[in-house]
Amino acid sequence: MALKIPIPGRKKDQEAAAPSENGDLNGSSNGQNGHVEGPTRAERVQKAKELGIHHGKEAGMNATDWVEERVNGTGIYTAMLSRKVPKGTNWFYTLGSSVMFIFAMQAITGVVLAMYYTPSATQAYATIAHITNDVFLGEFVRGLHKWGASLMIILIFLHMARTFFFGAYKYPRELNWVIGVVLIVLTMVMGLTGYLLPFDQRSFWATIVANNITASGPIAGPFLADFLRAGPDFSATTLSRFYALHMLVVPGLIAGLIGAHLYLVVKLGTTAPPWVRAARPKGARPSELVPAGVPTLDATELVMNGSTNGHTNGSGNGAVPHPDEVIAIEEPPAEAAAEAAPEASSPVEPATDAPTENGDAGGEQS
Ligand code: HEM
Repeated sequence: MALKIPIPGRKKDQEAAAPSENGDLNGSSNGQNGHVEGPTRAERVQKAKELGIHHGKEAGMNATDWVEERVNGTGIYTAMLSRKVPKGTNWFYTLGSSVMFIFAMQAITGVVLAMYYTPSATQAYATIAHITNDVFLGEFVRGLHKWGASLMIILIFLHMARTFFFGAYKYPRELNWVIGVVLIVLTMVMGLTGYLLPFDQRSFWATIVANNITASGPIAGPFLADFLRAGPDFSATTLSRFYALHMLVVPGLIAGLIGAHLYLVVKLGTTAPPWVRAARPKGARPSELVPAGVPTLDATELVMNGSTNGHTNGSGNGAVPHPDEVIAIEEPPAEAAAEAAPEASSPVEPATDAPTENGDAGGEQS
């Protein structure tokens, strides 16, 4: 027999329910006919709303909400993928993400290859041949990893060229440029260390040549070559050293630096293309009337590249403005301006498309 549980507040259940000992189920019996007269559901919902009680949150929180409440994943998602970008942002801006995508692919295919590869001078070549000839999709995964390495180098150079020609290395993004330089060096170290791993004739002799070139470098060269060789001569330990660098050290460093690189991209925003000109905000004086670099002014009152909030790119990130980037200041009250310089208060044709020094689109965001 099914057990019927009365739901407090539901009219028919209330009517069917027997009165409790004191005849008062929820403290509002009329005490005459034993019927319980509680608030209706609509009244209770209304009451809960007034008290600010959200039943979904109080009672049945699902796993996604639980995690979200603790990590604020939506905030991270918004910062990374739904952030505002300057007007004129185009396909060239996808190069950095492409490099990241290839890096992720290299990591995944590398892990698969590592499951079958043995970094030993006697077995390395044989295990590579085994991956290529016997392992299911082995040749495909190896091909992805091999071609991915070349693609990553090409894309990273294109990405660097994009940031260079768009002037994205300038203030306040110099640090991101420096991190990028370290990333490009590490990516090439990945190429060098990975090249030896098949341990065939070509990779063996090419690595010896590369090592000799390294040794010919000034001051640090010989030490670096010794470190890579794991001694004065090329030996079996050289392979282990290259493998450890290729598998653990360098990818770890690259992953960490990509994190820092992206953090700065999100914090500072991206640079607008150089051909996009910053619009002059309403009320701002034409830039030619204002000398650049006025250090005495309050930074929050400066108009930075078309943005009035003290940001260099209007991305709402609170970057500290640089005096050299000042292009215009807020218009003073009309009377004050007239008193100070009557001739200067004459109407001037507004220069709505004054370009900025670094090509930032400022507050113009799409
Ligand atoms: C593993 C290598 C790299 C990855 C994964 C990477 C990733 C990214 C991503 C996703 C962005 C934002 C989108 C974009 O502008 O394309 C970016 C921006 C940037 N990257 Fe890289 N990058 C790498 C290497 C480099 C290198 C080698 C340089 C220069 C030497 C560099 C300098 C910059 C700069 C200056 C920005 C800011 C661009 C702007 O503000 O418009 N990055 N990077």
